[in-house]
Amino acid sequence: MRNLNQNTITEAVLARHAECTSPRLKQVMTSLVKHLHAFAREVELTEEEWFKGIEFLTRCGHITDDKRQEFILLSDVLGLSMLTVAQNNDKPTGCTEATVFGPFHVEGAPEYELGVDISNGARGIPCLVRGTVRGLDGHPVANALIDVWQSDEDGLYDVQHAEIDGAQARGILHSDYKGRYHFLSILAVPYAIPHDGPVGDLLESLGRHPWRPAHLHFLIKAEGYETLITHVFRSDDAYLDSDAVFGVRQSLIADWKKQSDGTYLVEYDFVLNPNSK
Ligand code: BEZ
Ligand code: FE
Repeated sequence: MRNLNQNTITEAVLARHAECTSPRLKQVMTSLVKHLHAFAREVELTEEEWFKGIEFLTRCGHITDDKRQEFILLSDVLGLSMLTVAQNNDKPTGCTEATVFGPFHVEGAPEYELGVDISNGARGIPCLVRGTVRGLDGHPVANALIDVWQSDEDGLYDVQHAEIDGAQARGILHSDYKGRYHFLSILAVPYAIPHDGPVGDLLESLGRHPWRPAHLHFLIKAEGYETLITHVFRSDDAYLDSDAVFGVRQSLIADWKKQSDGTYLVEYDFVLNPNSK
């Protein structure tokens, strides 16, 4: 096929997918090409702008390593992560809602007994976290794996501190026979997502701030139930309505109560969706 022009190139590209043996890949790539071409036509993309986009993606690649994932960050700030979570986690009413995973989960966090201080030296105001894990039918979920992680009072996760080697303010616990869990950690605070790279520059150019409202991350797994990836947010946070990554859901907001000794208490009950068989 020769002499393609702006009116014929889209169909020509799509025709090249004819031999693709994966129907799903063909569907996804066909739609991607159509939307990408439609976007270029709609904004009348100039060659300078096209090259700026290439340079931006190149910078994202250069700053990405096993600790920094600029492409996930880009997906997060464009709302693509949350859109994907929302359309794949449509649970029955009453189940705890899912939200973004984020880039700071670490596989193989230390396992702790219930009641232990998981902060492990992370700086912050002490906070007791407790609640239950139940199924949609209200029955307690015993021995649920509860993987929790959070930032310290400086708004940084342990993996963001070059000088910290071990796990801090993260760990794995298991609910007891009544589905209960409790652990000590530190008060969650709002923090800025990494914004010293291309995604941060993009946010600034768009007049957007990089802040996330204070939250704890949870990944909860139990046999017979769908895995839940979610957060619990602080009800008094100024960024609840402008989360940089669009992850806030009303049902995930809890009151973090200041105690007479200056420490905090937050209680949150999780409801898991049974696996459909
Ligand atoms: C987080 O909550 O850890 C997070 C989510 C998206 C982007 C950056 C951080
Ligand atoms: Fe986070």
